[in-house]
Amino acid sequence: MNLNPQQYAVFGTPIQHSLSPKIHAAFGTQCGIALDYRAIAANTDGFPSALAAFVAQGGVGANVTLPLKAFALSQCATLDAQATRAGAVNTLIRSAKAWHGANTDGIGLVRDLTQRHQLALPGRRLLLIGAGGAARGVLGPLLDAGVVAVVIANRSLEKAQALADQFAAQACALTQLPAQGAFDLIVHASSAGHGEFSLPSWPASLVQTGTALVDLSYGLAAKPALAWAGELEIQAVDGLGMLIEQAAEAFYLWHHARPDTAAVWGMLRADF
Ligand code: ATR
Repeated sequence: MNLNPQQYAVFGTPIQHSLSPKIHAAFGTQCGIALDYRAIAANTDGFPSALAAFVAQGGVGANVTLPLKAFALSQCATLDAQATRAGAVNTLIRSAKAWHGANTDGIGLVRDLTQRHQLALPGRRLLLIGAGGAARGVLGPLLDAGVVAVVIANRSLEKAQALADQFAAQACALTQLPAQGAFDLIVHASSAGHGEFSLPSWPASLVQTGTALVDLSYGLAAKPALAWAGELEIQAVDGLGMLIEQAAEAFYLWHHARPDTAAVWGMLRADF
């Protein structure tokens, strides 16, 4: 028996309700890999010192979530192609003396949508709401999977424009949404649902027959967007499946083993 399992953690704020420790523990059990994966609260100010303390305690792998996905780039000596393209990381891999940053969010989302939910992506006109680290992580892989005519809507137009310029998309402020017409796929990647519950003020004109809404959050944070989709009677997918798939890809980067995500999906879906 290994009495000193390898140390992994997810960093972010808020973090106490994160399902990542449960998911990685289940993957470890499935694959016969001893690991210790915990949740550590950190914001951008505290993250560098929290990460250094984690390394001192034997930390060899980490995930980062809101609000650290773009900021954590500064802690990485090297980056994989997806992290470089996104300008954001969600997975850190420790080498002898430094962190290597990867981004498994996009591959996780595309796998969840196409394989679990049978949602065909080629030719779908995409509205991406949000322009932070989560949005940056999924945009490239969604384009690779075939979405078209992308519009990025964000509270701050400047941030949407910067991301749109990089990916040859259109940008608008949230207040300009009524002028955008309808989309086939709406991906909500902002952190707006993490505050008070209220329906988003997105216009119904964004929706037409066959539109699907995907919220990258899960649990309480996803509820406002899912309720909006429910009122408009369109297909809605929350971020639980993406969370599990991005975790499986991170698990593969750390342990070179592929866990059975369907089993973990079955275990968690009942609660969320
Ligand atoms: P993450 O890593 O989860 O993407 P982030 O990089 O801090 O976190 O990005 C948060 C995103 O949510 C941004 O797009 C932010 O909009 P701004 O760029 O204008 O700040 C968006 N966001 C946060 N709170 C919001 C709110 N109350 N209403 C609308 N958008 C919000």
